[in-house]
Amino acid sequence: MRIGVLCSGGDAPGMNPCLRAVVRSALAAGHEVVGIRRGYQGILDADFFLDEQHQSRMPIQAVFHLAKRGGTILHSSRSEQFRTFDGLQRACENLRENRIDALIPIGGDGTIRGAMALSEYWDGQIVCCPGTIDNDLQGTDFTIGFATAVQTAVEAVDKIYDTAESHERMFLIEVMGRHSGYIATYTALASGAECVCIPETKTDIPAIIVQLERHRDRGKKAVMMVVAEGDEAGGAEELNRRMVENGCPFPTRVVILGHLQRGGSPCPADRILGATTGDFAVRSLAVGATGMLSGVVNGQTVLTPLAEVVDDHKPIPAAMLDLLNILSR
Ligand code: F6P
Repeated sequence: MRIGVLCSGGDAPGMNPCLRAVVRSALAAGHEVVGIRRGYQGILDADFFLDEQHQSRMPIQAVFHLAKRGGTILHSSRSEQFRTFDGLQRACENLRENRIDALIPIGGDGTIRGAMALSEYWDGQIVCCPGTIDNDLQGTDFTIGFATAVQTAVEAVDKIYDTAESHERMFLIEVMGRHSGYIATYTALASGAECVCIPETKTDIPAIIVQLERHRDRGKKAVMMVVAEGDEAGGAEELNRRMVENGCPFPTRVVILGHLQRGGSPCPADRILGATTGDFAVRSLAVGATGMLSGVVNGQTVLTPLAEVVDDHKPIPAAMLDLLNILSR
């Protein structure tokens, strides 16, 4: 089988270990791997990884030392053109011309929607791997990159606490996650933040002010509010404006962590998740699977139909939100 592999959408630490596993598992089973550069746009542009003989295939040397490397050596993109009817037709032609039998797209919900659109016109097999820091996909307990992003965010909050205490300030720290509050919830819980604002729960500014006054009256000198970028009340800048307007009892500063959260060497959990889902995707293709996500649920590799994966955002467990509430009171 000739398997195409690509990384699409926002990059995530752990995509490279996933790619390494796809190539190593596929070669070990006698398949050939075509590395498609720059996501789905690379299919349209026939932009492939070339080996030393200028052939479109990935030799084992292409994935040497990738276990610890952040980003993706194949590059990533979000292709508008690919989503159009003409784009999808051209993608099918290029896949056929290049004798690609199956595809492993590594990415988040946009990548999965792209795979679903392609499968309406292309008869090759597709099994996706969950590569996004957002952890918003059904069919897998965690997505590749989430654990590293949380680690990076927690390290940042820990450092910001130091300066916050020196100056007796409150910081509003905005984290990524698009429409999901997973990164914010895990970061707040792990760093002991006093407040968290996420799209999954209603942000009640007067109630937060009362809570902050209680912290101040008990002698707290520094407080952290972790804000998910997708919070329904706005990002950290907007929330800061509204907090000040409502009489916030601490002087405030805003920090937006941004793309820092997507960089760095993947942590062991993301390396292992990348390796596991990449290998399982290859083995699933070999037994005929298609239209599926390769995920890990309760420690077991599982396949989930792509439509179910993006049907609804993965909810944050209620017990975790309760715990956060109790610990930050
Ligand atoms: O989906 C991953 C993600 O990092 C989101 O958390 C964020 O909203 C978005 O990508 C940012 O995208 P871009 O890199 O295109 O600005």
